[in-house]
Amino acid sequence: MGRRSFLGFLATQYDPLPPVEPQDLSGKTVLVVGANIGLGYEAAKHFANMKPGKLILACRTVEKGKQAAHSTILFFPFEIFANVAPVILTAIKEETSFENIEARAVDLSVSQSVVDFADLFVKEEDRLDVYVYNAGVALDTHTRTVDDWETTLQVNDLSSMLLTVLLLPLMLKSPDPKFSPRAVIVASDVHFAAVITPEELASPNLLETFNDKEHCTPHGDIQRRVMSGRYNLSKLLNVFFVRELASRLPANSPLIVNAVNPGLCHSGLSRNARFPTSLFMFIFKALVARTTEMGSRPLVWAATAARHREHDLRGAYVSDSGVKEPSDFVLSEEGARVQKRLWNETADALTKVSPKFKAIVDEYLSG
Ligand SMILES: NC(=O)c1ccc[n+]([C@@H]2O[C@H](COP(=O)([O-])OP(=O)(O)OC[C@H]3O[C@@H](n4cnc5c(N)ncnc54)[C@H](OP(=O)(O)O)[C@@H]3O)[C@@H](O)[C@H]2O)c1
Repeated sequence: MGRRSFLGFLATQYDPLPPVEPQDLSGKTVLVVGANIGLGYEAAKHFANMKPGKLILACRTVEKGKQAAHSTILFFPFEIFANVAPVILTAIKEETSFENIEARAVDLSVSQSVVDFADLFVKEEDRLDVYVYNAGVALDTHTRTVDDWETTLQVNDLSSMLLTVLLLPLMLKSPDPKFSPRAVIVASDVHFAAVITPEELASPNLLETFNDKEHCTPHGDIQRRVMSGRYNLSKLLNVFFVRELASRLPANSPLIVNAVNPGLCHSGLSRNARFPTSLFMFIFKALVARTTEMGSRPLVWAATAARHREHDLRGAYVSDSGVKEPSDFVLSEEGARVQKRLWNETADALTKVSPKFKAIVDEYLSG
C-alpha cells in the first residue's frame, strides 16, 4: 500500500539517485515553469544539456529568466536559518553551451497573468513537447492574492491546473509518433502527511472551505494546523489533479501526465518559514537534504525518461526516478471521491477566470 515510514524516507534521502540519462530532444520545445532558482533551474540545465529545439524558462519576470540563462548570480535563499548558504547560480548558457533559451514572464499568483502567458505562448509557439510545472511556494501564514485566493492554494494548485489545461491543445498539436509529449507537475512526498478533516469534507464546497479566510485564520490551536498543513495539502491536490487529468484524457492520447516527488532538497523553498520552523528546517535540511541538482533528477526523469514503458507513467506518481504508489488516502475510495469533487470545484472556479478553460475541458477531456 502507499505508505511512507520515516526510516524509509531517510533511506531514500541518502540513496544517491542515478545520473540523468540524456534523451534526444532535438527539435522539441521544453518549458520549465519556475526556472530561475532551485529545482527548476537545475532541471533546466539538464534539459539544456540535451540540446532541445528550444528551452523556455517561465519566471515571475523576464529579467529573472534571462538572468538564469545568461548571468552568473549569487542567490541568498534564506531569511533566517532557512537555508545553509548563499548559492552561486551559473548562467545556464555558459554551463551547457546551449544557446536557444528564451525567458517568458508569468506571475502564478495572478490568474490574469497565467491566462495572458498561456494565450501568448499558444500564439507564438508552434509546439510544446516537455512541460514541467515546477513553481511552488510553502507559506505557513495566511496571505491573499489579488484574486482573493490563499496564496499557496493559488500558486501551487489553481495556477497549475489553469496553465496545464490552457496549454493542452498545444501539447497535443504536433504529435510525433516517436515522442509522446509529457506534462509533469512537481508534487511531493509531504502529500502523505496531508489531512482533510471530516468538517472540511462535510462543507458544501471543499475548495471554497480551503480558501475561506476564517477557515485559514481561526483562533487557538486550529490556527497553526490549517496553515501549517497548507503546503502538504497543496501537494496532495497536485497528485489528485494529475490523476484526474490523466483519467480524463482519451486512453490513446499521446500526452503523458505525471506528478513527481523530488525528495527533500536544498532550495529556496523554506525562505518564508518562520521561527522555529525555519530553525528546524535549517537543521533537518543540513542533515538529510539532497543537493538541488540531485533533487532535479526525478523531474527530468519524469519529463523525459522511460520511453519504452510510457504507459506506466500515465497519471503516475514518480519518486526517486521510478513510479511509486501515492498515499493510501489517494488510493482509497474516499480519496477517489475527493479527487473528482476537487476537480469539479476547481474547474468551476477556473471557468470563471477563463472561458477557454471550459472550452478546452469540453473538447479534449471526458466528463
Ligand atoms: N525543495 C524541496 O525539498 C522540495 C520537496 C518536494 C517538492 N518540492 C517542490 O519543488 C518545486 C520547486 O521548489 P524548490 O524547492 O525549487 O523551491 P524554490 O527554490 O523556492 O523555487 C520555487 C520556484 O517557483 C517560483 N515561483 C514561486 N511563486 C511564483 C509565482 N507567483 N510566479 C512565478 N513563479 C513563482 C520561484 O520564483 P521566484 O524566485 O520569483 O520566487 C522559483 O523559481 C515546488 O513545487 C516545491 O513544492 C520541493
